[in-house]
Amino acid sequence: MPHDRVARRSLDSAATRRAARHWWDSDADAYQREHGGFLGDADFVWCPEGLREADAGLLGDVSGRRVLELGCGAASCSRWLARQGARPVAFDLSARMLAQARAGARRCGTSVPLVQADALALPFADGAFDLAVTAFGAIPFVADSARLMREAHRVLVPGGRFVFAVTHPMRWIFLDDPGERGLVAVHSYFDRTPYVEYDEHGVPSYAEQHRTLGDRIRELVGAGFVLDDLIEPEWPDGHEQLWGQWSPLRGRLFPGTAIYLAHR
Ligand SMILES: C[S@@+](CC[C@H](N)C(=O)[O-])C[C@H]1O[C@@H](n2cnc3c(N)ncnc32)[C@H](O)[C@@H]1O
Repeated sequence: MPHDRVARRSLDSAATRRAARHWWDSDADAYQREHGGFLGDADFVWCPEGLREADAGLLGDVSGRRVLELGCGAASCSRWLARQGARPVAFDLSARMLAQARAGARRCGTSVPLVQADALALPFADGAFDLAVTAFGAIPFVADSARLMREAHRVLVPGGRFVFAVTHPMRWIFLDDPGERGLVAVHSYFDRTPYVEYDEHGVPSYAEQHRTLGDRIRELVGAGFVLDDLIEPEWPDGHEQLWGQWSPLRGRLFPGTAIYLAHR
């Protein structure tokens, strides 16, 4: 029987992890070819709107801080942090993304410790870090993001900070389209059923999760965090570069990214 290749369907944690690993291993090289120039080899870009940590200062002074980067991809953020005097450790589920991270280190001459790990089972001791950060890493791709929040809380010291960027939840209601079609609401904001793509054998090959604003805050607070701020970067004038569904057309009308600042 032929399978639908795209669906909104529940998926357990193991199937979601397999899909994420498969997807990011297959896509890592293409992702870096497409976005590597925008992200830089040693730069901290929070989102497709182009907000840079060097300008935004969301992390404060990172010098000497032990920083964990979740779902680091090619780890350009960690290399930027290392150059600011921080002590970053970067991890990712995808071996191919970590190969891209090693290539980035060779290109720019700054390397950071890299670990292959799942964000739902962090191989780090309690209180090992002062700061946990991610720009779109791991969080949208795990089935149990409440557990991820608890893991982040566990590996931070008391007072440690967790700062992460994810797709703004209101984007869930639109088609994944940077143009006019992406301006029409077609899905319910309240439907948390994951978006799943399947390969030709009906095996899940990509899954993305949605949490409403309230869900996300409850996950954070439930894990023991205090929410300090929520940044919704505006699309800057003169920035014309598309990133998937992120475009100037949509960015001028509604937010594409949410950056949560929390501490334990
Ligand atoms: C959109 S990329 C973001 C990478 C990087 N922060 C950037 O800005 O390019 C998402 C990353 O999350 C990673 N990821 C997905 N699920 C994960 C999981 N369960 N644990 C750790 N990393 C995961 C992927 O392998 C991928 O490298």
